Amino acid sequence: MSLSQPHGGELVNRINVDFELSTVSKEVEIDNFALSDLELIAIGAYSPITGFLGQEDYQSVVESMKLASGHVWSIPITLPVTEEVAGSIEVGETVKLVNNGVVYGILELTEKYSPDKTVEANNVYRTDDLAHPGVKKLFDRPNVYLAGPITLVKRVENRNFAEFHLDPKETRAEFEKRGWKTVVGFQTRNPVHRAHEYIQKTALEIVDGLFLNPLVGETKSDDIPADVRMESYQVLLKNYYPENRVFLAVFPAAMRYAGPREAIFHAMVRKNFGCTHFIVGRDHAGVGDYYGTYDAQLIFGNFTAEELGITPLFFEHSFYCTKCGNMASTKTCPHGKEDHLILSGTKVREMLRSGQTPPPEFSRKEVVEVLIKGMKETVTN
Ligand code: ADX
Repeated sequence: MSLSQPHGGELVNRINVDFELSTVSKEVEIDNFALSDLELIAIGAYSPITGFLGQEDYQSVVESMKLASGHVWSIPITLPVTEEVAGSIEVGETVKLVNNGVVYGILELTEKYSPDKTVEANNVYRTDDLAHPGVKKLFDRPNVYLAGPITLVKRVENRNFAEFHLDPKETRAEFEKRGWKTVVGFQTRNPVHRAHEYIQKTALEIVDGLFLNPLVGETKSDDIPADVRMESYQVLLKNYYPENRVFLAVFPAAMRYAGPREAIFHAMVRKNFGCTHFIVGRDHAGVGDYYGTYDAQLIFGNFTAEELGITPLFFEHSFYCTKCGNMASTKTCPHGKEDHLILSGTKVREMLRSGQTPPPEFSRKEVVEVLIKGMKETVTN
């Protein structure tokens, strides 16, 4: 066995920091969400995608979770702009993509189109309820999608925890250097609690390495800030994981909260980073009650192993059992609900906010210390 082939066979590389910008006059301002997608396309994290999706790919992704080429892809990667901005540029033109006064990319505009956002919401998020944070974001962003291949002309600089931003070719090189043939990817937008640790370590018993790959792009405002989480991951790994079996790097994408569809997307991206396996637990990438506990696992049944090219590892809802005296799930524990401490990121966040210290059955004490300190600083800043 060797590391996973990139999705589509080859890692996309659309970086050219020597691009001659003086030949391009028009500019389009892009939001942070689009900037993170621009970068992720360019570094190959979204292989085989090479730009913001045109209408044929978009419709195919929305309707059947595949690109027009037939490759599995479940989340539309789009560049929304206002009608006014769309009206100021013509198909065939090349435009600069600007964020906060800095030119990060160029787009060769091949199409502009107006999506049916209600269809997009219902298919991708399984709801058009504006109380859903992903749906709200979809409708808050402007109404015309620009499409075409992109080039990243400048890397994002001076960001927090820069040393944990690695491109897929770098993570692949790191896994190879470590001699890992099998690597399990773990997505999270939360501090790692004991249930996360349990499923990660259970997976690690059957593969060579764990790629802890927290999402640090835009999240909803009540999620724990990425800098606090990054500190908590480092203290956890230092104290409880063998150094040569875990590798930590960030996933700078925005969170969509699209549950099942996002689980497929998360798996494809981790495949590009070199993972052979990917953990999908309880209500992966879910929010509120929009998705069933195991919907994000069931959705993998729509695709063959060949189409996916990465093996999902499914985990039951895990908890701490006071009778067993350890972490378990209903697959391994015979005791009743009254003996189970149910853990979730939401619960840990609620406890921290109300000044309660999560017990060691929830979170490692070193992690709790970092979170309490971090949350205090967040509140006072
Ligand atoms: S996510 O939005 O990034 O998926 P979270 O950080 O809570 O949210 O979850 C990370 C991964 O751990 C997901 O695969 C999720 O399904 C899994 N997970 C979280 N809590 C549990 C739990 N108690 N039992 C089993 N799996 C869990």
